[in-house]
Amino acid sequence: MPTTLSQSNLPGLELIHRGKVRDVYSLPGKRLLIVATDRLSAFDVVLPDPIPGKGEMLTQISNFWFGKTAHIVPNHLLHTPLEEVLPKGTDLALYSKRAVVTKHLKPVPVEAIARGYLIGSGWKDYQATGSLCGIKLPVGLRQAEQLPEPIFTPSTKAAVGDHDENVSFDAVVSAVGKDLAEQVRDATLAIYKWAAEYAAKRGIIIADTKFEFGTDEDGKLYVMDEMLTPDSSRFWPADQYQVGISPPSYDKQFVRDYLEKLGWNKQPPAPKVPADVIAGTAAKYAEALQRLADIKLD
Ligand SMILES: Nc1ncnc2c1ncn2[C@@H]1O[C@H](COP(=O)(O)OP(=O)(O)OP(=O)(O)O)[C@@H](O)[C@H]1O
Ligand SMILES: [Mg+2]
Repeated sequence: MPTTLSQSNLPGLELIHRGKVRDVYSLPGKRLLIVATDRLSAFDVVLPDPIPGKGEMLTQISNFWFGKTAHIVPNHLLHTPLEEVLPKGTDLALYSKRAVVTKHLKPVPVEAIARGYLIGSGWKDYQATGSLCGIKLPVGLRQAEQLPEPIFTPSTKAAVGDHDENVSFDAVVSAVGKDLAEQVRDATLAIYKWAAEYAAKRGIIIADTKFEFGTDEDGKLYVMDEMLTPDSSRFWPADQYQVGISPPSYDKQFVRDYLEKLGWNKQPPAPKVPADVIAGTAAKYAEALQRLADIKLD
């Protein structure tokens, strides 16, 4: 059975960040304990109802990809057993599949996005300007069309409540310096290309994805946060892909569609979501985990 957790409670540990999805605790030795809860955000607002098991599925998907791509880019995971860091008396079953111990890194202040297809804000920007993050694209591309080559389209990490904004590579260079900007771009594209090829063999298109990176005291770069999950990526079933329309996806589209139909103004508080939409969303995460990682959580 999946466990359900809307908010972690770990007395004795120092909570340093409660994000939309994850609760982050500080651990001695420049480490973090990151707990993926079952909170679901849509349009950057957290919904009132949890999606049972979602945090477990997200964590398992990320861990799968971190393992698979460690030869391309090092990642933040430490393999410390949870029993060693969770407070005495913690229900281990509730945390074992949704918590990880990681290096505590200094975040690179940029959302590192790779796009292989023209959709979402990329499609909007292209329609308005013919380019994307300052990268000129061929004319006449259609919605959801594959790009000639995957591109790095960074965006700023917005403050709470704001939406992220696409920026040019030069803006990243100004923010973090040329060397780090190039490392982030190259790592982003290398992981994306590898993962896209891997997923294609399993009938899934990774249309785009977002990574977060951080550096340690020596300035060494690691990929952190989550990796290639339905929350950070657009996964499309390859057999339903069609240029010209927005394909169905393994992500929050299900719940977004419901909310769009309601006509909610996308300002907090978010409306309650019916049981069938919650179950349908959970099933999407489970399907992504099974198809990509061959993992079935029961
Ligand atoms: N290894 C790491 N070192 C430092 N910070 C990390 C690490 N891994 C993840 N984080 C940070 O932990 C937080 C995870 O929480 P979550 O993704 O739920 O937050 P969020 O709502 O997306 O907030 P944010 O806007 O800050 O990303 C993020 O702020 C992420 O940048
Ligand atoms: Mg996040």
